[in-house]
Amino acid sequence: MSIAAIIGMQWGDEAKGKIVDLLSEKADVIVRFQGGPNAGHTVSFDNKTFILHHIPSGILRKNKLCIIGNGVVIDLPGIIDEIDGLKRDEVGVDENLLISEGAHLIMPYHKLLDGASEKTRGRMKIGTTKKGIGPVYADKPAYKGIRICDLMNERRFKEKLKFNLEEKNYLLENLYDIEPLKLNRVYKDFLNYRDKIKKYVSNTREIIKKLVEENKNILLEGAQGTMLDVDHGTYPYVTASNASIAGVSMGIGIPPKRIDRIIGVVKAYTTRVGKGPLPTEDKGSVGESLRKIGKEYGATTGRPRRCGFLDLVVLKHTCWLNGVTDLAVTKLDVLDRFEEIKVCTAYRYKGKLMGDFPTDTELLSGCEPVYRTVKGWMEDISNIKEYVRLPERTKSYLKFISDFLKVDISIIGTGKRREESIVLKDFF
Ligand code: GDP
Ligand code: IMO
Ligand code: MG
Repeated sequence: MSIAAIIGMQWGDEAKGKIVDLLSEKADVIVRFQGGPNAGHTVSFDNKTFILHHIPSGILRKNKLCIIGNGVVIDLPGIIDEIDGLKRDEVGVDENLLISEGAHLIMPYHKLLDGASEKTRGRMKIGTTKKGIGPVYADKPAYKGIRICDLMNERRFKEKLKFNLEEKNYLLENLYDIEPLKLNRVYKDFLNYRDKIKKYVSNTREIIKKLVEENKNILLEGAQGTMLDVDHGTYPYVTASNASIAGVSMGIGIPPKRIDRIIGVVKAYTTRVGKGPLPTEDKGSVGESLRKIGKEYGATTGRPRRCGFLDLVVLKHTCWLNGVTDLAVTKLDVLDRFEEIKVCTAYRYKGKLMGDFPTDTELLSGCEPVYRTVKGWMEDISNIKEYVRLPERTKSYLKFISDFLKVDISIIGTGKRREESIVLKDFF
């Protein structure tokens, strides 16, 4: 038995969905532990493409138990749509999905406040997905959150909703000039949603404890990426949850030392959607080519992603923070047509070399990447199934990354489809 976690090493969209799908084949259970509908995880096989937002990507494999932990924030109309969409595609959901009764609900006021706050931030705009993520997570430590178990009790739900609406409507009306929400309307809508999702709601902490005791193979599906982690990312240009391995214990209730393997997912170059510093961003033809070849448009919002070459200063920081045991390097095929590939190995700040990732985000904005340039392989690698058959220059690129980070590369992505992968190690 084994517990393996899939964690994004950059700013999200590293192709975690594809890696989770690959490893789900041999897993018994797949668990999401943080984030919410801000995530968009793409899985492609048999000429079909699915994008998952709340539901673990393992749902697309037959008879895999999929659990949404207490650390995930849930948009009920969103997850109901997601479930209905999967059912239309004949994916078995009812037998395989469990949702934690401890998960916090994204309420309509969270979405309105997210959008309104972004509008008023001006230069300090974050570029959020406007799904209400910041406001819903903020209500948790402020003791104002509404959890799924609250919704299961009508009296308690109404009481909490009323209490919240008094404050949130005040803000909406007086600060943002937005029409206040009506208690009875929201209450009725949520009772309808409750009826549709109650069959999935469980005490998932106890279920996961049992699964661990039964020695099941458990795959943990991270959302976003470590550079968006609220504590260790490029604050305030982050998301509101702990997207690093630290989110696991909080988000599902297992002791940290039970996690056996931590697989860091690294895109072979860098992307970011939303605002905030991105040292290796290329605003010229390289960035444009990466976006075009890599089809770098957000899976949740459709926004173009900002692109640039790989940043090893970021990866050194995120590999250490997460205690990464293995790397999955994805989208390597996107570099097939680059005559020269650059890799950032340090930053230069005010003329001085800097090898460590700074905490001060404004300082990071002033950092210039220091690059090492290597020759590209100029070959199509998408059909290659064995590591030894990769072009020598591709192998050197991978070796350089692995040596620099002192972590083995165990999975390589050579295309978006399930079979376009080279797997060098078994995890379960
Ligand atoms: P996630 O949020 O980390 O799951 O990643 P996204 O699904 O948002 O973005 C990854 C995108 O890259 C999706 O469109 C995938 O279909 C695609 N993709 C995944 N792996 C590969 C790969 O190895 N090569 C190429 N070319 N595309 C890939
Ligand atoms: P997956 O799981 C990429 C970004 C947003 C914004 C910042 C805050 O698909 O990798 P939020 O709506 O969370 O308050 O937005 O975080 N962001 C993501 N970027 N991939 C994601 O998820 C993201 N989830 C949030 O673009 O910059
Ligand atoms: Mg994504």
